[in-house]
Amino acid sequence: MTNFSTIYKLSVVALTCCFQVLLVGASSSSCPVLECWFVQEKVGRGGGLTGATSQEKSLLHIRTDAHSQDAASQKTPTDINPDRVYYVTDPAASLCHHSLNPPRGSIKKPQCEINPFLPQPSTLTWVASLTDSALSPIYLQADWFSAAFQGLNEQLGVSTIMRAPTGSKEHSVILSVTSKTVSVKSRLGEPVLLDCGFWADPASPLSGSGFAVEWRYQFRGNGRLVVAYDGKTDRVADTQEEGATLDFEGLHEKGNASLILQKAKVHHTGTYICSVYLPYLLAQVAVDLEIVEPPSLAIHPSPLPLAVAGQTLDVQCEASGFAPLTLELSWEFKGADGKSRPLGSGRVTGHRQAWDGTYSQSTRLELDTSKLDLGSGGEVTCVAVHPGGTRRASATLSVIGFSTPSIEDSMAMVGVALVLYGLIKFVSWTFSSSGSDGADKQDKKEK
Ligand SMILES: *[C@@H]1O[C@H](CO)[C@@H](O)[C@H](O)[C@H]1NC(C)=O
Repeated sequence: MTNFSTIYKLSVVALTCCFQVLLVGASSSSCPVLECWFVQEKVGRGGGLTGATSQEKSLLHIRTDAHSQDAASQKTPTDINPDRVYYVTDPAASLCHHSLNPPRGSIKKPQCEINPFLPQPSTLTWVASLTDSALSPIYLQADWFSAAFQGLNEQLGVSTIMRAPTGSKEHSVILSVTSKTVSVKSRLGEPVLLDCGFWADPASPLSGSGFAVEWRYQFRGNGRLVVAYDGKTDRVADTQEEGATLDFEGLHEKGNASLILQKAKVHHTGTYICSVYLPYLLAQVAVDLEIVEPPSLAIHPSPLPLAVAGQTLDVQCEASGFAPLTLELSWEFKGADGKSRPLGSGRVTGHRQAWDGTYSQSTRLELDTSKLDLGSGGEVTCVAVHPGGTRRASATLSVIGFSTPSIEDSMAMVGVALVLYGLIKFVSWTFSSSGSDGADKQDKKEK
């Protein structure tokens, strides 16, 4: 009986476990319910925009199919105004990525902001052709939102344009732009891919009549056009940028708008904005690129000259070819005992910038062989700590005429002393035996 109940209990436990696994699995593959900041410009007393913005919490139930009901069954948190709860249909499932759908109860949440959007034709040369022909303006008369999402892994960025019939809270994604590499690091000289892809609802009258893609660069207030492409007339705009291109085949076939930089250079560090245009619509995601190159190190003079004990030796370490300008230089010494100890940072110079934008900086160490207790020498190492990695360079230091005797030296000295003593004794004995009695007497007196 007890056996049976134990087996029964165990199987219940096992079943419950299985069920939980199934439930967790199901919920992580489904589309999220996202908390979003609804941000809009405040309307002033006179009816105009005051320039200030208001923020309200809102809730987006995401689904891939307008007819699915499971999203609607969830409860709304009490701090969210029921008027700000929306049902978003996203057939491409761009918003169903797992990094936008954290496990329930997790503290970190994906970021999301939603704003009212006003469809309008663009006057940019590479976009203007999209609105050449008259389109259905009735379709544009609706509630339009733009929404921007940031995934938990800090690698996913999605931006969407959504439309709902006026007054309805059921929105459909019409255009979405996604980047899976929101933050990119690259070594110097390597090819770089900044990911960007878009999806346009084929059922929308705005899709199928062309698109345009634009990559813009921004860094500390400076901006420039990198690539612009009119997909309707298949024309690339003239830009100053060299070695930047798109995969045009992938762009037309799969909406792959990724930017390819053939060779990473220091001045490529910055923010790149991928903008995708449909007629009257625009969605964009930003991608940060940082070029990180660790320094090369060289020690001068090389090899180090022999140092005489008590002498001061000047050693220099030059770090070059690195970016960004974040470097910590220091020195270490490893003696005959094999233990490393720090010698400080030395005298660090200001930095210089080379033609290719990389930096160099050096440090000078005064090795005072009398003070630093360096023994008979060892290994002097220059250490450079950089975001691209830690680099080391070493040189061998030999100190000669070094004052504290070693054990072998002491034993040799004792031996020499003994031999000398013996020699003196022998010489004095030879002299005294062949010398006068007076000398003998004197000898006895001494004794
Ligand atoms: C987009 O195109 C680039 C360049 O051809 C390629 O490396 C990348 O894998 C493509 N991305 C996707 C999602 O197809």
